[in-house]
Amino acid sequence: MSFSIERYKEESRKVDVTGIAWEEVGSYPLSKGDLFCLHYMMDIENHVPLYLSHLLVTRACMDPILTAFLACWNYEELWHGENLGRLLNLYGIEFDTQDRIANVRANLGLQNSVSLLSTMAGSWLLKDFSAVYLTIGAINELSTLTGYGALIRKSGHPVLKDLLSRIIKDERRHYAFYYNSAKEWLSGNRRAQKVDRWMLDRVWVPVGQGVKTQEEVDALALYLFDDERGEEELLDLDAKIGRLPGLSGIKLMSRALYAARERVKRNPRWAWRLIEKEEWAIKAPKKSKVGALTGRRALAEEEEALSS
Ligand SMILES: [Fe+2]
Ligand SMILES: [Fe+2]
Repeated sequence: MSFSIERYKEESRKVDVTGIAWEEVGSYPLSKGDLFCLHYMMDIENHVPLYLSHLLVTRACMDPILTAFLACWNYEELWHGENLGRLLNLYGIEFDTQDRIANVRANLGLQNSVSLLSTMAGSWLLKDFSAVYLTIGAINELSTLTGYGALIRKSGHPVLKDLLSRIIKDERRHYAFYYNSAKEWLSGNRRAQKVDRWMLDRVWVPVGQGVKTQEEVDALALYLFDDERGEEELLDLDAKIGRLPGLSGIKLMSRALYAARERVKRNPRWAWRLIEKEEWAIKAPKKSKVGALTGRRALAEEEEALSS
């Protein structure tokens, strides 16, 4: 698996959706589970620009190759979110993308600032922070593309399959960058390997957790991976990450699936109730209205005044 930053800079572009049969989106059904996953995935893709703010304050970003990658990566991820939103809208689910994104962000509250500050402090205190960050990047990209593959399989929706297959190609390039960069950092560096393993075993969480609750993360994991094939895919994913220096035998995504199963054992309605009740709408936070967050309030008030 090779990666050239020069080639990536030249070739990076928004996902090409030419020829996708958008007009047929509504002709095939999507289950409640499919819709739950699609909303989750869209929200996390749309969260990337904010996640980027966490990365740019770290020591890792002293590396110009990393910042060049992030500049292109951020743009590509934006279009993943846009296109997932487009598909949902065409399926008949109405929402305003900008409002939804603003609501997701407003619901993060104080936790976002705390996380930003601790990432910043951690990166400047830990010389090998980059190793951790790059490994987490590799896991996130690999679990994203594995999740998209699983959703293609679960949904059997041809248009969704076409879109996700194109997005997966981008995710593979992202994965290649993070994996190779992590490998480079970890090779022959025992201290970095120890820090990386220690952090992954203790602070790593599946992609999206933090923006999404534990129960939402579990719902996604159980819907996509709680069968023989799904479990195998997660074990395979862990094995791939385990090939990085110092990470042999590490269990991350499979461990997350087993933990989700345990929670369902204790409470059979856990996670599935979110899918059943179609709980993928994002409610506006009580205190800060979307308009107040985005500066569109004035515009809305103007429109109101004009219509009255
Ligand atoms: Fe993406
Ligand atoms: Fe990605």
